[in-house]
Amino acid sequence: LLETAEVVPAVNQIELHPWLQQDELREKHELLGIRTEAWSPLGRGQVLKDPVILALAAEHDRTPAQIILRWHLQLGNIAIPKASSSGRIRENFEVFDFELSPLDMTEVGGLERGFRTGSHPDNVA
Ligand SMILES: NC(=O)c1ccc[n+]([C@@H]2O[C@H](COP(=O)([O-])OP(=O)(O)OC[C@H]3O[C@@H](n4cnc5c(N)ncnc54)[C@H](OP(=O)(O)O)[C@@H]3O)[C@@H](O)[C@H]2O)c1
Repeated sequence: LLETAEVVPAVNQIELHPWLQQDELREKHELLGIRTEAWSPLGRGQVLKDPVILALAAEHDRTPAQIILRWHLQLGNIAIPKASSSGRIRENFEVFDFELSPLDMTEVGGLERGFRTGSHPDNVA
């Protein structure tokens, strides 16, 4: 897009969660002043069962969704999860009153596994 566009996009939404961390693209966005928005920020709910996420949730007395959303926030990602109940939507907002330590962030950073729930953009016509 940047080869032809005259306006640099303000936001790029890409699949992004602890099992697909997109470090290279996030760095590129940062250099270009593009905000990174997470598509499927909870990995369509699948990353909620990750043992490291569960351990951090127990340690912080938070839910797995709150741990993942807090990780997104601390990385500077825009994260808008989908949830079907008002209770979960409320829960997903309660991420502004605690912090993951640098060690916690490193632990989540270690969960990368190239796991995609959606299509790779290169394979979409
Ligand atoms: N997937 C798509 O095709 C698509 C297309 C366009 C845009 N998007 C955007 O992507 C985001 C949503 O993506 P997504 O639905 O694919 O994945 P997601 O937000 O990563 O995950 C949603 C899943 O997590 C569960 N969940 C949410 N909060 C939870 C909580 N606190 N505790 C336990 N489970 C929780 C939801 O369950 P319940 O629903 O049962 O609560 C749902 O199964 C939205 O911002 C949407 O606008 C997605």
